[in-house]
Amino acid sequence: MLALVAALAYLLGSIPFGVVITRAMGLGDLRQIGSGNIGATNVLRTGNKPAAAATLILDAGKGGIAVLIARATLGEDAAQVAALASFLGHLYPVWLGFKGGKGVATFLGILLALVWPVGLIACATWAVTAAITRISSASALAAAALTPGYLAFLDHSDAVLLTLLLAILVWVRHAANIRRLRDGTEPRIGRKKGV
Ligand code: G3P
Repeated sequence: MLALVAALAYLLGSIPFGVVITRAMGLGDLRQIGSGNIGATNVLRTGNKPAAAATLILDAGKGGIAVLIARATLGEDAAQVAALASFLGHLYPVWLGFKGGKGVATFLGILLALVWPVGLIACATWAVTAAITRISSASALAAAALTPGYLAFLDHSDAVLLTLLLAILVWVRHAANIRRLRDGTEPRIGRKKGV
């Protein structure tokens, strides 16, 4: 049964909403724009804020929904399986030749569904870092890195291992961003050109 949960959650997570929305709105092929990433930050580089907001909500929502449905039907272990599978679906979607996104919105959606107070703290971490740096990737890296610690500190040790794995994957997928941050060439949020 857990294999079925994993398969369905993977398929849900693999829906590339950023690509679908930008194409549907006639904004071009997202993979040819900005960083080429399929996430909301890159959709924002098209200059279309509603498209970016919709991508953010749907990419977060698919992870959250996968967790909530799995938990409601089969319990906490299934919720964790669904979390990991939907996240991997976003990173490695079958529909895009397994070349997917960096997982930030899906990570936050999963976290909000798993342990919502920590999800809110992680979102706040992203927002505060973004307010200070105006850099989306730096905000994502900070939120991902701190989340396992938040969970441990707030006595949700059952979710620490899973989120540690997700956080490592977020960092791995941001390798190019980390290089640009080091070189001082990472663009600020909403800047249309560059990367
Ligand atoms: O959510 C992805 C973000 O952290 C970085 O996106 O397009 O600037 O590489 P991007």
